[in-house]
Amino acid sequence: MTTLVVHESMFGNTRTVAHAITPDLPGPVEVVDVVDAPTPLPPDVDLLVVGGPTHAFSMSRATTRHDAVTQGAGPDHEALGIREWLDGLPPSPHVAVAAFDTRIAKVRHLPGSAAKAASKVVARHHLGHVIGVESFYVDDVAGPLREGEVERARTWARSLVPGDLVDAD
Ligand SMILES: Cc1cc2nc3c(=O)[nH]c(=O)nc-3n(C[C@H](O)[C@H](O)[C@H](O)COP(=O)(O)O)c2cc1C
Repeated sequence: MTTLVVHESMFGNTRTVAHAITPDLPGPVEVVDVVDAPTPLPPDVDLLVVGGPTHAFSMSRATTRHDAVTQGAGPDHEALGIREWLDGLPPSPHVAVAAFDTRIAKVRHLPGSAAKAASKVVARHHLGHVIGVESFYVDDVAGPLREGEVERARTWARSLVPGDLVDAD
């Protein structure tokens, strides 16, 4: 069982979650920034965990990443997000996929989620079978992660069983 974690992060919160969950995933585990993520997936990857920030109710776009930079994020992650990376992947139906995002807690009632959007792309383009979709909450645009969210993420990671399926809709 080999796991690849691909993360996108403008302010560092999604990256923090991606690294925090690695001890809880089936190993060996490789964690890569989306700008360094391989296309296609290496043939030995059984579980892909993909995480990104929710921007404008969905996965980020070049325009929203640029907005993040104007709000203080570093420029290094403006070029590419998980949306574009997933768009470039060929189908690989045997791979189990779990998606997570970070979102702002004070707008928790809003439906938009990058993880949900990513899971729909995975299902639609046969990039794998979705086994988990979850959001973790930050206090504001730049973070920090809400208290307890790293622990919740670690519990979520331990719950990912590659044989399971969840409905991407
Ligand atoms: C342009 C932009 C749009 C955003 N839109 C949303 C949104 O629709 N819903 C939400 O909950 N958070 C939204 N946020 C907050 C992000 O989710 C937050 O910045 C992110 O979780 C931080 O993760 P990161 O540190 O990994 O970038 C937005 C942030 C930016 C910069």
